[in-house]
Amino acid sequence: MMVRYRTLNRHPLFGVNTTQEDRILPMVMKQIHSYLLAKSYDYAMRNTEKRCLQGWREELLAQASGDLLEIGAGTGVNLPHYPDKVSRIILSEPDVQMRKQLQRKAGQFQKERLDITSWGAESTGMPDASFDTIVSTLVLCSVPSLETSLNEIYRLLRPNGVLLFLEHVISDHPPTRIWQHRLEPLWGLCAGNCRLTRDTATAILATGLQIEQLTEAPMAGTPAFVRRTIRGAARKSLDSGERA
Ligand SMILES: C[S@@+](CC[C@H](N)C(=O)[O-])C[C@H]1O[C@@H](n2cnc3c(N)ncnc32)[C@H](O)[C@@H]1O
Repeated sequence: MMVRYRTLNRHPLFGVNTTQEDRILPMVMKQIHSYLLAKSYDYAMRNTEKRCLQGWREELLAQASGDLLEIGAGTGVNLPHYPDKVSRIILSEPDVQMRKQLQRKAGQFQKERLDITSWGAESTGMPDASFDTIVSTLVLCSVPSLETSLNEIYRLLRPNGVLLFLEHVISDHPPTRIWQHRLEPLWGLCAGNCRLTRDTATAILATGLQIEQLTEAPMAGTPAFVRRTIRGAARKSLDSGERA
């Protein structure tokens, strides 16, 4: 029997209300894409992890402490690097397929201090000043709104709390920038909405956080248009009761 989705009120696979055939295909494609991305992520990144990312994660996350939120935790690659001085870890990951990988990996770590949520970085619903440390590694390139996500991070940090970041950013090489702008629409479709032209350090500063460490380095084993990275720590000032 042929099922015509146009006539259905509830989609049989996804359980959502729809009456439009043209909504189904993008949704199916998105699910398949998300599944493939989550399944292949660790494998695709393995060389870059070995050549630079593992070392950078280790060094960066050694500074984490207290109550910690990681946004866009992906498959959980940061988990082995959290030191004992982190008392509680919330890993947020909005993508259901990535979250499955994350849950699998998280099983190997101390369960009593770990929680996994589906929050997007833009809106967590947590009270102000909930965390001492927020971690974002290779995530601020993918969030739909950089400004909204950073404002949420600022809100969630306690006074003297710190954002630990590792992000790829817009190139400082003009010809590469031109290619980043050209490739961005296609790259975004293939790589989970990843943007190539974000100036993340400037956006962090615009929230009111103070960048106290900043290291720039090329990400080994990646094409030139995603190679330039920044990593470091941005702190919320102690007297930041209300932002000016
Ligand atoms: C390139 S992966 C990085 C994964 C991991 N943080 C790492 O360091 O390898 C980007 C992650 O950001 C997540 N992401 C996308 N949009 C997001 C949003 N609005 N809020 C939080 N995470 C998001 C994706 O689901 C994905 O897991």
